Amino acid sequence: MTTEEIICRRLVGRTAVITGAGSGIGLATARRLASEGANVVCADIDERVGKAAAEEVGGTFVQVDVTDPEQVEALFKTAFDTYGSVDIAFNNAGISPPDDDSILETGLEAWKRVQDVNLTSVYLCCKAALPYMRRQGKGSIINTASFVAIMGAATSQISYTASKGGVLAMSRELGVQFAREGIRVNALCPGPVNTPLLQELFARTPSGPRAASSTSPSAASPRPRRSPPPSPSSRATTPPSSTPATSSSTAGSPART
Ligand SMILES: NC(=O)c1ccc[n+]([C@@H]2O[C@H](COP(=O)([O-])OP(=O)(O)OC[C@H]3O[C@@H](n4cnc5c(N)ncnc54)[C@H](O)[C@@H]3O)[C@@H](O)[C@H]2O)c1
Repeated sequence: MTTEEIICRRLVGRTAVITGAGSGIGLATARRLASEGANVVCADIDERVGKAAAEEVGGTFVQVDVTDPEQVEALFKTAFDTYGSVDIAFNNAGISPPDDDSILETGLEAWKRVQDVNLTSVYLCCKAALPYMRRQGKGSIINTASFVAIMGAATSQISYTASKGGVLAMSRELGVQFAREGIRVNALCPGPVNTPLLQELFARTPSGPRAASSTSPSAASPRPRRSPPPSPSSRATTPPSSTPATSSSTAGSPART
């Protein structure tokens, strides 16, 4: 085996559970982890896209609503029963609905729904994955936060931003607590990523991605509804890169953007 093949097959024999695996960042991650040899469990609330993802990467599909504690427990049990270990938990499913807006307009129902899907789900997934990893004496948890957790967004999605702040803080605390047991916990803080949802947004926006050039990076939200987001690195006039993550924050160390 060549050095290149060894480096590219780092995950042979490892099992990765990915929530929101049917689309966007979760789908790209499923492809990457499978290409490195991992057994991938593709979890999604949407059966059509989740099944398609699992078929593509030769993994297992589990339909799950990440806000439901029993379904989340069953997800990690399926991963363990099928492959014998739970090595990676990529807790990534999230939403950014239009009724989550400025604090002045966002109602309690929208606030709670976004907290449930974006933050409570991460708590549930970590809680369900940790017992397997503790028994193994190793494991890696990666939670998807967002750059808004660090920078905020002038185009407000108040519950989304608060939920991602919670994900980042929770990841730091879990990282500190479980490091001594060989379990790593990290939070990913992506900038705008060209996922299907963002493409839909561009399709709906009459001025298209060019409008991004008039928005400063610090004024962007991950999926703003009123104007398309800029690339964080440049005031781009094209859609942002499809590269999944632009930065990550290791638990216990300062986040980089
Ligand atoms: N795209 C961006 O610009 C961006 C930026 C920063 C952070 N993020 C975060 O990255 C993560 C993935 O976003 P994406 O852009 O790939 O989104 P996406 O909409 O393309 O994919 C999200 C997936 O999650 C699934 N999902 C939604 N609710 C669910 C639930 N209750 N249970 C299980 N699955 C559910 C959806 O069916 C979908 O397949 C999210 O947490 C998002 O907040 C995205």
